[in-house]
Formats: sequence, C-alpha cells, structure tokens
Amino acid sequence: MWKLAIDLGSSMTKIYRADTSSGIVLAEPSCVAVSGEEIKAIGKEAKNLIGKTAELTNIIYPVYEGEIVDLRLAVAMLKEFFSRIGVKPSALRRAQTLIGVPCGASQSVLAGYASLAEECGLYKAVFVEQPYLEAAGAGVSLREADPVFCIDIGGGVTNVAVVSADGLIAGLSMNIGGNNMDHTIRARVERVNGLHIGALTAERLKTEIGSLQQNARGAFVAEGSSVDTLRPASTSVQACEITDCIRMYVDKILEYASAVLRKLPAEVAATVNRNGVFLSGGVMKIPGLPQYIGARLEMRYHLCEEPQYATVLGGGTLVRDKAALIQYGKELD
Ligand SMILES: Nc1ncnc2c1ncn2[C@@H]1O[C@H](COP(=O)(O)OP(=O)(O)OP(=O)(O)O)[C@@H](O)[C@H]1O
Ligand SMILES: [Mg+2]
Repeated sequence: MWKLAIDLGSSMTKIYRADTSSGIVLAEPSCVAVSGEEIKAIGKEAKNLIGKTAELTNIIYPVYEGEIVDLRLAVAMLKEFFSRIGVKPSALRRAQTLIGVPCGASQSVLAGYASLAEECGLYKAVFVEQPYLEAAGAGVSLREADPVFCIDIGGGVTNVAVVSADGLIAGLSMNIGGNNMDHTIRARVERVNGLHIGALTAERLKTEIGSLQQNARGAFVAEGSSVDTLRPASTSVQACEITDCIRMYVDKILEYASAVLRKLPAEVAATVNRNGVFLSGGVMKIPGLPQYIGARLEMRYHLCEEPQYATVLGGGTLVRDKAALIQYGKELD
C-alpha cells in the first residue's frame, strides 16, 4: 500500500513516499498555466512559462497563503503530480495519505482541503497541522520530547507554534512569507532604481543576494523595463539595498512569535527557553536569518538541515506511524 505525505505549499508542492521506497518523490512549483478555461501546463513547466507567454496565459497558484482558492485547478495539479510519481487512481483510493494544513486553520479552510482530497480520490487522507510535521521534520520525537517551539516561514504562510505530545500549546499561522518579500523588493527596485521587474526576477534577487548578515555583500544585475522609457533595461542591485524588504517581514513575524511565547505557562516557557527554537521553511535559507531570529528571541536556534523540506520530511515520519495519525490527525466536518 502506498503511503504518502503531501505538503501543498503556497510556492511548492512536496510529496514524500513512505512505503517500500522512501524519500521525497516530488517537489514542484504549485502553479498551473491557464488560457481561459484550458490548462496549458502544470508545475515546473508552468513556472517556466512565466515571462514567456502572451498575456492570455495566466499562471495561477491554486493554493494561496495556505488556502485552496481554486479547487478545480488544485485538483488538476495534484492529480497531475500523482501521475508524475506513478501512482494510479485505483492505488490512490487505498493509499494512506497525510496532508499538512496550516496551524489553526479555520473550518472553511479545512473544508477546502477535504474537498480537494475527496476529488482526488484520497479516501484515506488524514489532515495534520503543520507544526507537528515541522517538529518531526526537525528530528524531534514529539512523544518523548519536551514541548517544541518552531517557526516555519514559507512562500505564503508562516507558522509559529509550541507543540507537545498532547497537542498545540500555543500557535498561529499568518499570511506572511517569501512572496511578501518579493513584492516589496519589486516595488523598491521600481521606485529607487526606476526599473519594472517581474515576479521571478524579484524572487531571484531574494534567493541570490538576500541576506540579513551584517555587511552583506553581493550584487545582482536585474533585468526588466525602464520606468521612464518603458524600454528594456537593467540595473545592478546591491544586497544591502534589499535587506529592509526582508527584515520588515521577519520583524513582524517576531512580534507574533513573542505573543505566542507570552501565552505559555511558566514551566513550558522555561523548557522552550532551554531548548530553543526550531526553524524551517524555504525563507530560512536566507543567510543570517536564523541567527537574526535567535538573537532577537534571545534563544538558541536549530536550523533544519533541509529547511524547505522539513514539513514533508516530518509528514513522512508521521504517515508511517498509525498512533501518531490518530493522535495528531484532524477531524473534518
Ligand atoms: N535559497 C533561498 N533563499 C531565500 N529564499 C528562498 C530560497 N529558496 C527558496 N526560498 C523561498 O522560500 C519560499 C518557499 O518556501 P517553502 O517551499 O517552504 O514554501 P511553501 O511550503 O511552498 O509555502 P507555504 O508554507 O507558505 O504555504 C519562496 O518564497 C522561495 O522564494
Ligand atoms: Mg510550507
């Protein structure tokens, strides 16, 4: 029987197979290229079309900020991903699947995930709030361990939570992530450098030179079109110029993190303080960011080995464990 953990991220979908062969079997952008009603491409191929097609083709991310905003496209995308990993619809019906959902997701958000699972024929789907997966992905065994404080910054959502074997002690998810940083970088380059740039270029600026390290060096030649002449143009952007576009969102996240910490019972607070914070999510790959969070929270930090895959790796651990699925699985109406 197939066992799959699915992390339907706002930026990237990751699938882990946890039966005979085990490991990450898929990591693809969570996007679909559409022209009118017609689906033109899915995943990598769709993302590759950004900037290369006529305006008639739109690139849609059906999971936006952790919520399924376009069920039809989300179903088409996930079905295609299943076919890419070679699992047949008949096997899917019997497969044990675990699907990560944002921390504290509302019933209407959960209902979206339930509909998606149903329409994809995942009859044995279990929904688990992401902080449990992040903790497991950080290599912590929830059953044995003390409460775990984790922060995951993804493309569209940040989860901040303290989880224990008994459940969520305090936590929340907020619609802040790498996408906000990309938008702000884009707006800044337009305002300061007089250059219109696309979403992909803004993301590359963040991933290639974004840094919260002091004296961050590095430069990137961004290409786009001149605000004045509207003609193709380029400009060199220095790492230090985009630091604020990143830090402003991290500071916001830290405000929420402090609020979560303030809610903790004294003994839990003491444990968390002793054990530190576990960090995951693609955005944590920004140099200096984990150190910055540790310094601001005044606690030790542990960066997951593969921050972007921590959630799905944790899902892979839990989907094998029947007792954990019963304990952490969420009931849906
Ligand atoms: N090397 C890197 N440096 C900086 N940012 C990065 C790097 N690699 C990926 N990212 C960013 O990480 C984000 C994606 O992370 P991740 O895959 O954890 O998000 P997701 O799970 O798809 O989304 P979410 O959890 O928010 O629904 C994107 O904003 C991407 O630009
Ligand atoms: Mg994620």
